[in-house]
Amino acid sequence: MVHDNPHPLHGQAALVTGGSSGIGAATAYALGAAGAAVGVNYRSHPEGAQRIVENIRESGSKAIPLEADVSNETEVQAMPDAFIGEFGRIDILVANSGIQQDAPFSDMTLDQWQRVINVNLTGQFLCAREAVRRFLKQGVAPSVSRARGKIICLYSVHEVVLWAGHINYAASKGGIMLMMKSLAQEVAEHGIRVNGNAPGAIKTSINREAWSTSAAERKLLELIPYGRVGEPEDVAKAAVWLASDASDYVVGTTIFVDGGMALYPGFRENG
Ligand SMILES: NC(=O)c1ccc[n+]([C@@H]2O[C@H](COP(=O)([O-])OP(=O)(O)OC[C@H]3O[C@@H](n4cnc5c(N)ncnc54)[C@H](OP(=O)(O)O)[C@@H]3O)[C@@H](O)[C@H]2O)c1
Repeated sequence: MVHDNPHPLHGQAALVTGGSSGIGAATAYALGAAGAAVGVNYRSHPEGAQRIVENIRESGSKAIPLEADVSNETEVQAMPDAFIGEFGRIDILVANSGIQQDAPFSDMTLDQWQRVINVNLTGQFLCAREAVRRFLKQGVAPSVSRARGKIICLYSVHEVVLWAGHINYAASKGGIMLMMKSLAQEVAEHGIRVNGNAPGAIKTSINREAWSTSAAERKLLELIPYGRVGEPEDVAKAAVWLASDASDYVVGTTIFVDGGMALYPGFRENG
């Protein structure tokens, strides 16, 4: 029998990278509302992270801001020390930080390519590796979760939907998907669950020009069978489920939170 538990993450500690805005901020808040203590990572917007920390505290959970550039190995290695120093353990990592640096392929600079790969793909590698190291050191805490640890990788419908003009971004997201699945296969025997959350078009600052005017939003909606642009909270709810024991037998899976964007909407009317 399934019971509705308003605090399925009670007693757990969750680290969210890129928690200072958009999807990461909504996810950090939702994890806190589900009972987790939350570390809200940021790089350049401490005020955004602080705001979410205060919101989480007002909702009754513990929270701290954590500054680190996810593409910097030293900073990523230091982050869990501060986190565990505060909360005692780490149960959940949501690897969410990401950037776009768009350009037509023939104009794309090596710097644009590398910055996106470094933050999106290498950043998730560094954060996930640190989380796995910490999960392996700490035991299972059966009173809070059946799993030894949970990792949720944020990538995108662009793991499968090809994206001209954004080749660095699409390559980084497809890379994260394969890293996620291979890692899930490798660490499942240790009781660590790794899964992925692949949003479609969600209203955040990363894609503001795609939805901020009604003309742009109309054009975007042509790609979304469900007929609305997503909100950060849509993705956050899926993250809470993936972090909770409600998904305990879900390992190495991508949850598309995309209103059907990955369903080849161009083929709705006979292609
Ligand atoms: N919005 C969408 O439609 C959509 C769709 C699919 C996937 N996604 C993915 O969802 C994730 C969140 O994006 P979003 O839409 O919420 O965009 P956003 O509002 O721009 O948030 C991006 C977050 O990443 C953080 N970040 C950037 N570089 C960082 C670095 N080097 N180290 C640590 N943190 C860094 C930012 O922190 P600071 O601002 O503090 O630097 C910010 O909190 C990204 O991985 C994105 O690719 C978004």
